[in-house]
Amino acid sequence: MTTYITTPIYYVNAQPHLGHAYSTIVADTFARFSRLKGEDTRFQTGTDEHGDKIVEAAEKEGVTPREYVDRISAMFRNSWPPLTIKPDHFIRTTDVEHIATVRQILQQVYDKGDIYFDEYSGLYCTGCERFLTEKELVDGNCPDHQKPPQEITEQNYFFRMSSYQQQLIDHIKANPDFISPERYKNEVLSFLSEPLEDLCISRPKSRLTWGIELPFDDNFVTYVWFDALINYLSGLGYPDSANYAKYWQVAEHVIAKDILKPHGIYWPTMLMSMGVPLYRKLQVHGYWNIDETKMSKSLGNVVRPAELIEEYGVDTFRYFSLREMSFGLDASFSQKNISTRHNSDLANDLGNLFSRSSAMIEKYCQGQVPSPGPAIESDERLQETAQKMLSQYNTAMADFTFHKALQAVWELISHANKYIVVNEPWSLAKDEAQRDRLHTVLYNLAECLRLLTLVLTPVMPTTSKKMAIGLGLAADEPIICQLQDGSPWGLYPAGNKLQAISPLFPRLEKKTKKQTTEKKAAASKKNKKAVIEEGIISFEQFKEVDLRVAKIVSAEKIKKSDRLLKLTVNAPETRTIVAGIAEFYTPDELINRLVLIVANLKPTKLMGVESQGMVLAAKSELAGETRLVLAGVADAVIAGSKVA
Ligand code: MSP
Repeated sequence: MTTYITTPIYYVNAQPHLGHAYSTIVADTFARFSRLKGEDTRFQTGTDEHGDKIVEAAEKEGVTPREYVDRISAMFRNSWPPLTIKPDHFIRTTDVEHIATVRQILQQVYDKGDIYFDEYSGLYCTGCERFLTEKELVDGNCPDHQKPPQEITEQNYFFRMSSYQQQLIDHIKANPDFISPERYKNEVLSFLSEPLEDLCISRPKSRLTWGIELPFDDNFVTYVWFDALINYLSGLGYPDSANYAKYWQVAEHVIAKDILKPHGIYWPTMLMSMGVPLYRKLQVHGYWNIDETKMSKSLGNVVRPAELIEEYGVDTFRYFSLREMSFGLDASFSQKNISTRHNSDLANDLGNLFSRSSAMIEKYCQGQVPSPGPAIESDERLQETAQKMLSQYNTAMADFTFHKALQAVWELISHANKYIVVNEPWSLAKDEAQRDRLHTVLYNLAECLRLLTLVLTPVMPTTSKKMAIGLGLAADEPIICQLQDGSPWGLYPAGNKLQAISPLFPRLEKKTKKQTTEKKAAASKKNKKAVIEEGIISFEQFKEVDLRVAKIVSAEKIKKSDRLLKLTVNAPETRTIVAGIAEFYTPDELINRLVLIVANLKPTKLMGVESQGMVLAAKSELAGETRLVLAGVADAVIAGSKVA
């Protein structure tokens, strides 16, 4: 059996964050699970480096696209080893082999007659890097980037995607697990229930040069999605390589719901036109939000994996992300959630089971795991839970329901902890006549720890290695690194000696008063340094404030408040701001007005509405009358312009 698992290739216009880390941890875990099953496994990730967005990002930094993509791609590549993510191949769309494959495929599809030249007017979203249909817009905006798309007319090349619509519907219906979970399969089918438009697959060089030139017209470069999706084949050395022959037929792509359409529709129809069999499965997960709010740079709430590893350790982060998100649904990240999981599931349940069991084997048997005596009902129950865990774990891991797999594992952990309480090894140890019974209980605990070491390998490789050392087992022993060989009960070699290890998951203590005071003192010292004189701030402090021009696109009164208006503004992303200006402005007179906002204020809820920033206004009192005037700019500028 073989496995080929991929992640999306990430745009290099942003640095890796929790969302990227999650998809890549999922793929890494699945790859490790497949290896645990003895499968020949290949895992690929990488970076997507062409297109408008990248050029924009490079321009902002004042460097060439080439310099820019090299730097950010390296950041992605380097962020995986600290997360114990080990891809077999890291692909970049600027790799020469990839470029050659894309050009070869374009020529093949063109020669087949599936690419034609035409004029097109459409609504283009630079965020999505694609034309949107009217139906996709929400209040005139792209639903993902919350900005109106630009109307563009140009001559371009088109891929006859519509020719493959029925064939794709038939394929999805004939292969019910082609797209999973089911809700995403239904979403694609619902999309396919309307006539499919052909796909614009070129960009004129007059508008964009940072891309792969079309082999049949050098006035154009390839549309970034047509280029990017091909990475899944080019990374295997398509069309003539042994890797392609071996892995392509079992390809599974992990993505989040944001890129369902390119993967669920563009990619399979491209493959159909090329005459290449479709990938086997698309595994679609939901989105991580932060404290119930969308993660975004402009809201200042982006979670970086490196910071989490430093605070909680790599395996707590891996475990948390797989346990907390039900694959397919959105999940919410918070510091509180991750520390609770660390302290309760990892330190209390797993960590304690390991340390209590090994301490008792040390104390009553000088660290040597004894041979078990005859089993009684309590032992059989424990064995049954272990077998049930293995079967649920296998199904759930193969189905990408990692949270269910971990629930099943924790049922065994909690049963084993109860087993200790019920059997009271400390009482058995006091009675020589109970020696056999004591040995059985201690052996069974060591055996549970062995099984846990085995099944936790894909999720927490570092912890699993440490557990193996503690159990006195070599890391490559089949009984802890081969699922089939290691699954039967009773394989822990009696007579083996445990080794002392440090606690698996030291509890995260709440920061003491002293630590908090010290931190505050340090912060205030830093602040004082920046304050030049009382009431005066330094230029550095001023630079911290993100002042921008925003365009008000809608305004409404907030029920039960005379003072507050809910404004929707573009700055340039769409955000909601609650402003205390209802006594001075009616909602209608605010539409299309350019105002000044503070964009990096911590979001706060006012009358149940989350305000993501603050609108600036001048306020004066004259002859007992209050006047409030919104601050603006003297001339029209683009929404989102920085004020400095
Ligand atoms: N370059 C394209 C993908 C091309 S694949 C042929 C792209 N890149 S991206 O950098 O925007 O990455 C999108 C992917 O990053 C998502 O599909 C998901 O895997 C991951 N995530 C980014 N933000 C996320 C969350 N907030 N939550 C979960 N995953 C998210 O699209």
